[in-house]
Amino acid sequence: MSKERLLLATTNKGKAKEIESFLSEFPFKIFTLQEVFPKQSFVEEGNTFAENARGKSLFYSHQWEDLILAEDSGLEIEHLKGAPGVLSARFSWPQPTDEKNIRKVLDLMEGVPLDKRKARFVSCIVLSQKGKIIKEIKENVTGLITYEKKGSYGFGYDPIFYYPPLKKTLAELLPEEKNSVSHRGRALKKLKEYLVEAGLP
Ligand code: IMP
Repeated sequence: MSKERLLLATTNKGKAKEIESFLSEFPFKIFTLQEVFPKQSFVEEGNTFAENARGKSLFYSHQWEDLILAEDSGLEIEHLKGAPGVLSARFSWPQPTDEKNIRKVLDLMEGVPLDKRKARFVSCIVLSQKGKIIKEIKENVTGLITYEKKGSYGFGYDPIFYYPPLKKTLAELLPEEKNSVSHRGRALKKLKEYLVEAGLP
């Protein structure tokens, strides 16, 4: 049986790894942007995760016949009125790194008591083909911003996102454990249900 081609419209390696492992049971041949469109990039200018995910998914549609999966995600901190939000990846602009983004959050949250450290990760997934959106899913996970980094798994803000039910930061969870509770894991679980229902691929 030939495998259906699926383009993962992301350049974030941490994200791509999580999505690929989640979809490993499906007969997809997964391609990444680095492999297929190394010279093109979509500029994320949306005000919401959904706008960015739709934009990313449709941007490559003209040049790719098969399925395209895009995901936009980020961290929303209640005390910071939802920041960094859609700017999560670029929070420590102009030369952002995960390390600098974390530092910036911890500095902004300095002295803020535990009950005001509520935050959530949001994931919006958009599946499209030939310029049409087929499925859109939004999920989140709630937790607390820690006072310092803890754990070395995962990526991004995982070391400062404490998940109360497991009493650990997301960076202290093994990849499978993180996938079972995270915003992206929850969205991908729904995507899997949809793929089965729709008989895809
Ligand atoms: P995007 O590639 O524009 O969607 O950027 C998402 C950004 O949000 C990442 O670069 C991280 O900073 C943050 N983020 C999203 N999901 C996660 C996660 O699962 N763990 C930690 N940080 C995340």
